[in-house]
Amino acid sequence: MDDKIVLTGIKPTGIPHLGNYVGALKPLIEMANNHKTYIFIADLHALNLIKDAKLIKQYSYEIAAMMIALGLNLDNAVLFRQSDILGIYQLSNFLMNVTPKGLMNRAHSYKAIVEKNTETGVDIDSGVNMGLYTYPILMAADILLYNSDIVPVGADQKQHVEFARDIAGYFNNTYGNVFKLPEPVIGESNGIIPGLDGRKMSKSYDNTIPVFAPESELKKKIMRIITDSKTPEESKDPDTSTIFQLYKQFATVEETEQFRQMFVVGGMGYGTAKNILFEKINSVLSEPRKEYERLMANKNEIDAILQNGAERARIVADKTIMKVKKVMLG
Ligand code: ADP
Ligand code: TRP
Repeated sequence: MDDKIVLTGIKPTGIPHLGNYVGALKPLIEMANNHKTYIFIADLHALNLIKDAKLIKQYSYEIAAMMIALGLNLDNAVLFRQSDILGIYQLSNFLMNVTPKGLMNRAHSYKAIVEKNTETGVDIDSGVNMGLYTYPILMAADILLYNSDIVPVGADQKQHVEFARDIAGYFNNTYGNVFKLPEPVIGESNGIIPGLDGRKMSKSYDNTIPVFAPESELKKKIMRIITDSKTPEESKDPDTSTIFQLYKQFATVEETEQFRQMFVVGGMGYGTAKNILFEKINSVLSEPRKEYERLMANKNEIDAILQNGAERARIVADKTIMKVKKVMLG
């Protein structure tokens, strides 16, 4: 265990799918085995998009239950809801005063909307609320509040972590060395997981397999994976097959090699390959799925874990706020 502090937020805006599992959740759970790790449900970040409280709450429980059921080490990892820590509202407000407006104008997510609005000839800020515009400041506050060193994120969030670093720099230049400068870590080691239609698995494409889909749904989804029209006898290319790409994320090296051979030599139809994939994923996820379902039926247990996380997070957050208030207000 080294003494670097890892932190990441997961936005409760949908049901996590196998792409999220392989690309984000699993590596995070592994990291939490040997680092002090803060993982929070970024419910304040969901607010600029989702206006339905019940939905945010439901997704938040699903994410928390999923992390716990997948075996997150709760001694090393502090799991909590972002909105439970008052320091986050305070720090993001303080950081507003050292953050140039121009930095926000350069955020990819904001720029993309401005470009689209310009193309369609409406006001450039049409559909932009201040939550969306100042999103990178809230995210910088998340990162700086807990003295984070390493921030594992998807490639689309790299700029936000760099902004957090910039904002920490502006603050330190003005007020002295208060904040550590965080590093983004981009999880690309497992590659992009394809979805049912062969494109990147993403909730925006409606091609996902939820991590804890009930067994019958999991099977149905896997059977719907789009393949080429090769006959069972023909040799198939594992490297362009969604079935194989998914399989290798769940199987051992030997099993993967064996499955690769079955593709290459021919004689295995896609129906059979899908059954093998289903059995493999199901064997890995069926025990955690049971625990997930148990937790979702006992939300008080999830609440207790999140409350405990919030208490631990608050200790660090309060210290940061005290320091910041002192240097900014005396
Ligand atoms: P979505 O595309 O479904 O909206 P998000 O953008 O919310 O997913 O992704 C959250 C995290 O999951 C990111 O860290 C991202 O890198 C990871 N992730 C999402 N989809 C995939 C995928 N198909 N393959 C690998 N990682 C993914
Ligand atoms: N913005 C991230 C996303 O959309 C979620 C997030 C919020 C986050 N705060 C964070 C990630 C702090 C890393 C660190 O996925």
